[in-house]
Amino acid sequence: MSDTARTIGVVGAGSIGATVCADLVLHGFRVVLVDRDPAALERARRVVAEAVRFGPMLRPGLPRVGAAEALAGVTTYTALEALGGCEFVVENVSEEWETKRAVYRELDRVLPAGVGIGVNTSSIGIGRLAAETGRPELVVGIHFMNPAYLKEAVEVMRGAETSEACMAYVMGLLADLGKEGIVVGDFPGFVSNRISHLFFNEAARLVEEEGVEPAVIDQIFKRCFGHRMGPLETADLIGLDTVLLTLDSLHESYRDDRFKASAHLRALVADGRLGRKTGAGFHAYGLPAGGTGAAQG
Ligand SMILES: NC(=O)c1ccc[n+]([C@@H]2O[C@H](COP(=O)([O-])OP(=O)(O)OC[C@H]3O[C@@H](n4cnc5c(N)ncnc54)[C@H](O)[C@@H]3O)[C@@H](O)[C@H]2O)c1
Repeated sequence: MSDTARTIGVVGAGSIGATVCADLVLHGFRVVLVDRDPAALERARRVVAEAVRFGPMLRPGLPRVGAAEALAGVTTYTALEALGGCEFVVENVSEEWETKRAVYRELDRVLPAGVGIGVNTSSIGIGRLAAETGRPELVVGIHFMNPAYLKEAVEVMRGAETSEACMAYVMGLLADLGKEGIVVGDFPGFVSNRISHLFFNEAARLVEEEGVEPAVIDQIFKRCFGHRMGPLETADLIGLDTVLLTLDSLHESYRDDRFKASAHLRALVADGRLGRKTGAGFHAYGLPAGGTGAAQG
C-alpha cells in the first residue's frame, strides 16, 4: 500500500461494516476500523482476508491485493477518537436509533470540521441523524449491499441538508470503488428496503402460516423470477437481527402493519439464529462468516 494512500474511517465492524472495510482496502485505501466489540474487529480482519482471496474470482475486475498487504492497511480500535485523521467516515453500527444517535453525537465531537459521514442504514432517516450533529450538510446516506466488495452499485440517500459538495465527494468515492451511486430521497427504508423487507417478511409468514419450506420460496425467486438469491437467503446474509430491527423501525415510521414482523422471524432471532453470521437462520450453513475460507454471498 502506498504511503500516500487515502484514509477512510469505518465504524461498526459487523456483517456489512467488515465488507465495506474489505472493499476499501481492495481499492487501495487505508481504513481505520472502529467497533466497541474487540471480537467483531477480529472477525472483520478474517472477512478482509477472505475477501481479498475470493473477491477477484467472484467479481472479475476487482483489484488483486495480497492478504498481508490488505491487513496492513487496516488498523483497528475500540474508541471513536481514533478517527481523527480520516478524510471521511462510513458509519455501520447497529440499526437502533439510540445506538446510532449516540455515535453521531460522539462522531461530531471527535471528527475535524469538514469531515463528512456516510450513514449506512437500512431504514433510519438521514436528516434525523444529521440533526444530531453540527455538520448536517456533511451527512449523507450511503447504503451498501452485502457483501459490499461484490456489488456494482450503492443506494445514496440525500438528506434535506446534504450539500452539493458532499454529494460530489460521495459519488467520487463510490467511483473510486468501481461503483455507481443511485441517488434517492430521504424516507424510511429508502427504495431498497421499503420493498425488500416486505418480501422478507411475507416469505417468513409463508413459512410460519403455510408451512412452506424456505428452500422452496428461494427456488421460486431464483428459478422462476431469475433473481440471483431468494428472499430468505438474502435475509440470512444480511443478518436476521438487522432485518428484524429494520422491520420494527419501518413499522414505527409508517404505522403500517405490512411491516409488522412475522412471529417466526422474531422467534428465530430470540433463539440466536441470526443467519450466516451465526451459522443458521432460515437455512443452515457451515461455520459463521469470517470463520472459514469461504466467501459470503
Ligand atoms: N447487514 C447488511 O447486509 C446491511 C446492509 C446495509 C446496511 N446495513 C446497516 O448497517 C448497519 C450495521 O448492520 P449490520 O448488519 O452490520 O449489524 P451488526 O449487528 O452485524 O454489526 C453492528 C456492529 O456495530 C457495533 N456497534 C454497536 N454500537 C457501537 C458503538 N456505539 N460504537 C462502535 N461500534 C458499535 C457492534 O459491536 C457490531 O459489531 C445497520 O444500520 C444496518 O441497517 C446492514
